[in-house]
Amino acid sequence: MKSQEVYEEEIEKIVKSLPADRRHLILFLHQVQQKFGYIPEAAVLSASDYFSLTPAEVYGVVTFYSAFRQKAGCKHEVIICQGTACHVRGGEALKNEFWRLLKLGPGGEDPEKNVALRTVNCLGCCALAPVVVVDGQYQAKVNLNKVKMIVDQLEKN
Ligand code: FES
Repeated sequence: MKSQEVYEEEIEKIVKSLPADRRHLILFLHQVQQKFGYIPEAAVLSASDYFSLTPAEVYGVVTFYSAFRQKAGCKHEVIICQGTACHVRGGEALKNEFWRLLKLGPGGEDPEKNVALRTVNCLGCCALAPVVVVDGQYQAKVNLNKVKMIVDQLEKN
C-alpha cells in the first residue's frame, strides 16, 4: 500500500505534465485512473488547484462520466459498451461471453479474480464498435475470440 505522500507526489507529476488549462482536466482524470484504478480525493484537490476550478466542478466531471471510478476496486476493470452502435455489432454477445468466461456473479465483480465488469451506454468512439475498455485501454472491433484472449490475459496478471 502506498503512503499518502507517494500518492500525492505521483498525482503532482501527472498534473504538471499537462498544460494548466481546464480543457486538460479529462485527460488528467484518465491518466490518474489508469495509474491508481480510481480517482482519489487528492487528485480532485490537485486538479482543482492546478486547473483553477472548484473541487465541486472537478467532482461534477468525475461523477458525470461513468468511466471514472471514485473508489478503489478490483485490480482489473473491463468496460463493455452497450450503446446502439456497439449493440448492433454484437456488444451483448461480448458481455455474455465475459460473464460466462469470468463466471461473475450479480454486480459484475469477483474479488477473487480481481476483475470488475461494467457496462456503459456509449464510449464516444462508435466507429470502432464494438468497443471494450480493458484497464483503461480501448479495444476496437472486439469479437468473441478477442474476449477469450482478454480474459486469458487478465487471469495471468
Ligand atoms: S455505442 Fe459503443 S462507442 Fe458509441
